[in-house]
Amino acid sequence: MKDVKKINITIDGVACQADEGMTILEAARLCGFEIPSLCTFNHGECNQGSCRVCLVEATGARGLVASCVYPISEGMEIKISSPKALEARRESVELLLSNHNRNCQQCDKNGKCELLYVAQQTGARDDAFAGEHTPVHIDRLAPSIVRDTSKCVLCGRCIARCQNAHGIGILGFENRGFNTFVSPAEDRSFANSPCIQCGQCVNVCPTGALMEHSEIDKIDAAFKAGKCVIAQAAPAVRAALGEEFGYKIGTPVTGKMISAMRRLGFKRVYDVNFGADLTIMEEGTELLGRIQNGGTLPMITSCSPGWINYAEYNYGDLLDHLSSCKSPHQMQGAVIKSYWAEQNGIDPKDIFVVSVMPCTAKKFEKEREQEKVNGIPDVDAVITTRELARMIKRSGIMFNRLPDGEWDSDIMGDYTGAGVIFGVTGGVMEAALRTVYFKLTGHEKEDIEFTEVRGHDAGIREASLDINGVKINVAIASGMRSAKILLDDIRAGKSKYHFIEIMGCPGGCINGGGQPFVRSCFLENEDDDIMETYKEKRAQALYSEDERQTIRQSHNNVQVQKLYEEFLGEPNSHKAHELLHTSYAARERFSDL
Ligand code: SF4
Ligand code: SF4
Ligand code: SF4
Ligand code: FES
Repeated sequence: MKDVKKINITIDGVACQADEGMTILEAARLCGFEIPSLCTFNHGECNQGSCRVCLVEATGARGLVASCVYPISEGMEIKISSPKALEARRESVELLLSNHNRNCQQCDKNGKCELLYVAQQTGARDDAFAGEHTPVHIDRLAPSIVRDTSKCVLCGRCIARCQNAHGIGILGFENRGFNTFVSPAEDRSFANSPCIQCGQCVNVCPTGALMEHSEIDKIDAAFKAGKCVIAQAAPAVRAALGEEFGYKIGTPVTGKMISAMRRLGFKRVYDVNFGADLTIMEEGTELLGRIQNGGTLPMITSCSPGWINYAEYNYGDLLDHLSSCKSPHQMQGAVIKSYWAEQNGIDPKDIFVVSVMPCTAKKFEKEREQEKVNGIPDVDAVITTRELARMIKRSGIMFNRLPDGEWDSDIMGDYTGAGVIFGVTGGVMEAALRTVYFKLTGHEKEDIEFTEVRGHDAGIREASLDINGVKINVAIASGMRSAKILLDDIRAGKSKYHFIEIMGCPGGCINGGGQPFVRSCFLENEDDDIMETYKEKRAQALYSEDERQTIRQSHNNVQVQKLYEEFLGEPNSHKAHELLHTSYAARERFSDL
């Protein structure tokens, strides 16, 4: 590694050293000083230097400088706490507050709001400046995301994240000066622009300007109406929910989560891992069928609804490559409203299925016509990990004191390690390969893990496998920027792969748009590099759960086997297709509402 030159600086009279090329903000943090900041994010992922919340004095500069963009230099004297710097930062925040809709008590961001955090840091008063407010734009039309510009501080983080993760730049600044606001092109809704509803922009927004479209009210109404309300939770939720209750990142809280859901009143609490095992049975069979019978290859996984949205908007000509399998929670919802309903003598119309997901796009997915059986939706409401935390908090449940509960185990209680790793990028691929290996060889792979497909970055990973003489080339991508490279190769007839896993969010579901917000300012007990390592830590929580399972291949899930024997017949049977498979259609990128 190249040696980095050290630069000598003083901060508020304290001599210290930092690396050449660092900004004042970064150097100050290294030396133990926290300068308030708002528009900068994640090591310069967004760095437009516009909010002026980070102003400091520095020798060699004329006037105050924005420390998030100003580089350090040898011998520089920096003043963070001079009266001039303190006052300037306070005024910057007061100006932001003066054009802000401060209804904090009704705001879902309260408790994790970075504007309130910098207001506290700087001592800003919310009534320091009175004046006109920028006209407000509110978009509640999309099932996944709500945009409320009255809470926007124009930091640009959402714009940068959408561009970085997907290269599609849905969001931008519209208008100029005082009338500037953030929006999809031409002030469209998320609902009629090619937004994939992944929620990555929500994850980085410092305020309540972008939030998931909450469905907590729908669940309250279902309870009130006396419906049979059943909850099912995805694997990535247990790996992150604890963060909302002060646990260190990467602490699995499965047992407490189950107990909390029971106290919330759900009649049954199921693990979506059962649905994940079912997905592997269907998807693995579909893949082998395509390889052995000359079907469309490469086959691409279909469990990420953000990715499905992207494919329908941008690659309508490649939809035959997508597996026809529904995603695990939709499959499980369909089983609850058919097999489970039959076994329990309950009319499917009286069942209300709630999926707890790390993902905002699942809210959109469950509304699709193709995700209904005989007009009945598989899933009735989707809440994010954050919404589940809000439900737990408002109910007065002391999460940390809960005993560990157990999943309901009637009919859909078994799950395998393969189902657990669906939550990480490469996990669906690995789970499918475990089953494909068995189907092709007739025995289990001795070393069960396919570590060549593991990783948590957003780039492309690939592997070439020879299973009993059948060559299978695989690739994994997460985030649409990487996926596009693989898709363009397919379009050009140059793809060498048989099977591709694509996840909408960089890093997979553990980094989904509905997961707890990761901000170093609210995570005092975490290491300094947490913004770089949190995905790895959450992923590790799932890999450890996989290792602890005695059964780690989906085809060995006894209750899944029973479901086929008693109800579905074979994987990919006619009945399985009716309940567990779906279809796709190319969509206009810009449409009328
Ligand atoms: S974004 Fe922050 S300051 Fe604004 S209303 Fe919400 S909690 Fe309050
Ligand atoms: S939801 Fe995803 S695709 Fe849509 S604007 Fe946000 S980051 Fe971009
Ligand atoms: S919507 Fe949020 S992330 Fe985007 S510019 Fe406004 S405050 Fe920043
Ligand atoms: S954080 Fe430096 S200008 Fe916004």
